[in-house]
Amino acid sequence: MKLKDLYIQFFLEKEHNQVPSAPIVPENDGTVLFNTAGMQPLTPYLKGQPHPLGKRLVDYQKCVRTNDLDAVGDASHHTFFEMLGNWSLGDYFKKESLTWSFEFLTEILNIPVERLAVTVFEGNDLVARDTESAEIWKSLGIPEERISYLGAEDNWWPNMEMFGPCGPDSEIFYWRSSDPVPKEHDPKDSRWVEIWNNVFMQYNHDENGFTPLEHQNVDTGMGVERTTAILEGVEDNYLSSIFKRYIELMEEYSGLNYSDETVKVSMRIIADHIRAVTNIIGEGSGIKPLNTDQGYIVRRLLRRAIRHESKLGIDVNGNFLETLVGMIIDDYKDYYPELEKNRAETLATIESEKNKFTRTLEKGLKEFNKVTANCKDVLKGEEAFHLYDTYGFPIELTVELATERGLKVDEADFQERFKKHQELSRSGAENKFKSGLSGTGEIETKYHTATHLLNAALKIVLNDPSIHQRGSNITPERMRFDFNFDRKLTDEEKTAVEELMNKWIQEGLTVTKEEMNKYDAVESGAEAMFIEKYPDQVTVYQIGEVSREICTGPHVENTSTLHHFKIVKEEASSAGVRRIKAILD
Ligand code: ALA
Repeated sequence: MKLKDLYIQFFLEKEHNQVPSAPIVPENDGTVLFNTAGMQPLTPYLKGQPHPLGKRLVDYQKCVRTNDLDAVGDASHHTFFEMLGNWSLGDYFKKESLTWSFEFLTEILNIPVERLAVTVFEGNDLVARDTESAEIWKSLGIPEERISYLGAEDNWWPNMEMFGPCGPDSEIFYWRSSDPVPKEHDPKDSRWVEIWNNVFMQYNHDENGFTPLEHQNVDTGMGVERTTAILEGVEDNYLSSIFKRYIELMEEYSGLNYSDETVKVSMRIIADHIRAVTNIIGEGSGIKPLNTDQGYIVRRLLRRAIRHESKLGIDVNGNFLETLVGMIIDDYKDYYPELEKNRAETLATIESEKNKFTRTLEKGLKEFNKVTANCKDVLKGEEAFHLYDTYGFPIELTVELATERGLKVDEADFQERFKKHQELSRSGAENKFKSGLSGTGEIETKYHTATHLLNAALKIVLNDPSIHQRGSNITPERMRFDFNFDRKLTDEEKTAVEELMNKWIQEGLTVTKEEMNKYDAVESGAEAMFIEKYPDQVTVYQIGEVSREICTGPHVENTSTLHHFKIVKEEASSAGVRRIKAILD
């Protein structure tokens, strides 16, 4: 059985309920681009809201971390990874938590106690020294000299600065080396690697400081990639069964050998980045390679991987990428069935971005060689911007290429040029937005309110809260509304949408608006398209109890003025996106 299955089964036996992995791209949280830990989607419940599945939860959660993206290429860093976690929401605490972690590691995974060490919190102004955890560890068979007391910089999660639920933790380390295991734990010796973190969440941290949570929680996290490598006895995560076949595929396509150091770095980057991109696009959150937000991360990962393919001599126009993406989907689809459902679209999205980039990659690389030929020290911001603007080289890619040549890039100058360019295109987009949506006339305003109602009605009738607006266009004659959905609507569904819309219109719902901070707006349940793009202060329009959206307006004051809503046409707009044309008559 795989580690994930063993873990879930173990905690089910300890009376936990399994929660499905939340999407990597958070659904109702505009404050972060990606889920970075198993606890993140559970934040409201850690803060006190009752969870529908009870007080003991277990899951495997898809995560993406991009903070040390440049470190990817070594033996253990990943952007995408899976985290195993079990939670107590005001139920059990230290004793059960540590005992079960120990039992799982030593009895289910058969890790010898001799290779384990732990750390516990040494105490600060908020929380006393954690002798309780130390005693529990000793009673389980961890000797005193394998227990280190450390301060908040090591044993407080996430740290003392970040906001949200937090608390002291106890971390479990494994001796990952063929050298003899030392008697004592030395926290500075990197051969001791962390495998599991048990956090005792007791506080919520916000602008007002640390407030005790309603109840004491346990939040744990164990990385699937690292633990799998340990269980398989390899010191390089990329040699574990998780990545091995991807590496072999690259060896086959490039004719090169992974054991060669420079080859190794490129192969790790490709394996990591393509696994991340496949999972992000494949979960169907509508993320595409773009120049902003999550889309930019996806673009950057994909383009960096393609550049490394080219470096390894793999034909970037061949079918390597498609084959690798297919393998990744096959490996994960049993755990994340949405990957199979979205297979064709994922492949098409990646293929299209690949085609865009490979058209300019060779020329861009030639251009890079030309401008750096006589460059001894620093590549100008102007050149870096030219590579970005003309050849689609993300700045990070140019920096990576430059670093390989021992050159620096004037990034500050690049950023200045980039900002100017963005301001220009943003004002273009705003003008488009105005003419597309706001119009000036009374009828456009009515249609505009109707788009909000339609967005809400589709979610209800099609029973799918993940439906969102993908685009909209209004003329005095009609409205057009695009939304994510993967099939044609039936006649019954179209009628049901019309009926619900007309019911709301007849009810004469009041439309109100409110100015607020954009993150508070999202927290309050307002629908938002691209949170990063909004100004800090936004307007939220509320229609009765049926719709709440961030929007610049204008809107009618009461839905009764819309009179009557009728769908004229429902059709495909692009893959996974449907288009409705409708009129108010
Ligand atoms: N939330 C904890 C972590 O990510 C368990 O390490």
